[in-house]
Amino acid sequence: FFFSSRRRHTRSLCDWSSDVCSSDLPYPYPMSAANPIDALFDNSLRAAQQPAWPDKTALDNAISTLRSLPPLVFAGECDNLKARVADAAAGRAFWLQGGDCAETFAAATADSIRNRIKTILQMAAVLQYGASLPVIKVGRMAGQFAKPRSNDLEVRGDISLPAYRGDAVNDLEFTAEARIPNPDRLVRVYNTSSATLNLVRAFTQGGFADLRLVHEWNKGFVKDSQIGTRYEAMANEIGRALDFMRSAGVNPEEFKTVDFFASHEALILEYEKALTRIDSRTGLPYDVSAHFVWIGERTRQLDGAHIDFAKKIRNPIGVKLGPKTTPEDALTLINELNPDREPGRLTFITRMGAGKIRELLPPLVNAVTKSGAEVLWVCDPMHGNTYEAPSGYKTRRFDDVLDEVKGFFEVHQKLGTHPGGIHIELTGDDVTECVGGGAEISHEDLATRYETACDPRLNHTQSLELAFLVAEMLRDRR
Ligand code: PEP
Ligand code: CO
Repeated sequence: FFFSSRRRHTRSLCDWSSDVCSSDLPYPYPMSAANPIDALFDNSLRAAQQPAWPDKTALDNAISTLRSLPPLVFAGECDNLKARVADAAAGRAFWLQGGDCAETFAAATADSIRNRIKTILQMAAVLQYGASLPVIKVGRMAGQFAKPRSNDLEVRGDISLPAYRGDAVNDLEFTAEARIPNPDRLVRVYNTSSATLNLVRAFTQGGFADLRLVHEWNKGFVKDSQIGTRYEAMANEIGRALDFMRSAGVNPEEFKTVDFFASHEALILEYEKALTRIDSRTGLPYDVSAHFVWIGERTRQLDGAHIDFAKKIRNPIGVKLGPKTTPEDALTLINELNPDREPGRLTFITRMGAGKIRELLPPLVNAVTKSGAEVLWVCDPMHGNTYEAPSGYKTRRFDDVLDEVKGFFEVHQKLGTHPGGIHIELTGDDVTECVGGGAEISHEDLATRYETACDPRLNHTQSLELAFLVAEMLRDRR
């Protein structure tokens, strides 16, 4: 359904594509452009947080390779997700987005991918069962390989090196060589995303996500007995409900597969632009590297290249909103990114910090509501609650994460708006990166299994525990 945007040097306007002539495109492309993608973005705008690629030829080669590769997702799937986002924005569904802060090539193994999918499926079952709402399952997965950094340099002792910017750019290893940005990595991002997404699709469409396996997802998994027991009890109830339905002759297809969407931060614009294609159904541009992409807190400058990028693609998109966001910023973002007020187009992912959300969120929500615009409000309770443990590990308290979600629900309850979803950094493994939770991970425990390449993630048990607590908030709201 897509065609490659690689052939740039074409003679006529129409021969770069066999199935769509650019003069048929509804989008206002300049007539001088041989390929509308080249003319789509304003390349003169400043792009924050971009790597300084030392080898421009290697970069050009990577870009033209990426441009020749097939899309990872189909634009129709992005539209389906957009419709689901619109449901969540209207309070008819709940958005669950989770995965690594930074995926790595090394961790794209069957076990790691399966454990993350299981965790999200389990959380979704808990939320759906507890709240009787459809849950939209979205992985921070199959593309989440690039990181914005607060400091360009990382200093250890008296050595200072370029910061790690994600496997898309350089290597985590603390050597000068490893930290040189290498554009060949962008092609590896595509390949690893493709392999990950293939397994995600196989698991979620091929029988593994069947609701009747709700017990299976937990096998050999939950170490913490309290959460494990609670999950098993819920799984038993779901099992009984399914048996009851089957005995009545009802065995719907809907229980056998799930829709699982891929998302990541659209950070490295060379990558995202190279994977932006014209959808042959509609003639409109989509970023086919994921179903949903978001713009981070550090790159959402209103006059910057990232917002220009987000403006031009037709995917459902998100923007992170941190504590400095003003109501005017929120309204301008809506006007820029969704001038036509298309339902499901725009998600605001707030990350204020547990201590600030009750004070900082209401003015934003009020301004948006008053404007008449509809956005999906999602709570990221991770990025406003990071601190350094005495041992030097970056961590987060489970209680702070929980409290930010609570504050998010309280604010929306008070204002009569919808707490539409959560955005969580998590992994399916028993890591020790965030403190607290039922297993009471302490500052001293962090060293036991601290594996993240970037920010600390909830482990499997903490993720399930959070899901149970959020399910209660959702149920109480109704
Ligand atoms: C992230 O989601 O990993 C991230 C960097 O978030 P933010 O842009 O909100 O800081
Ligand atoms: Co993060």
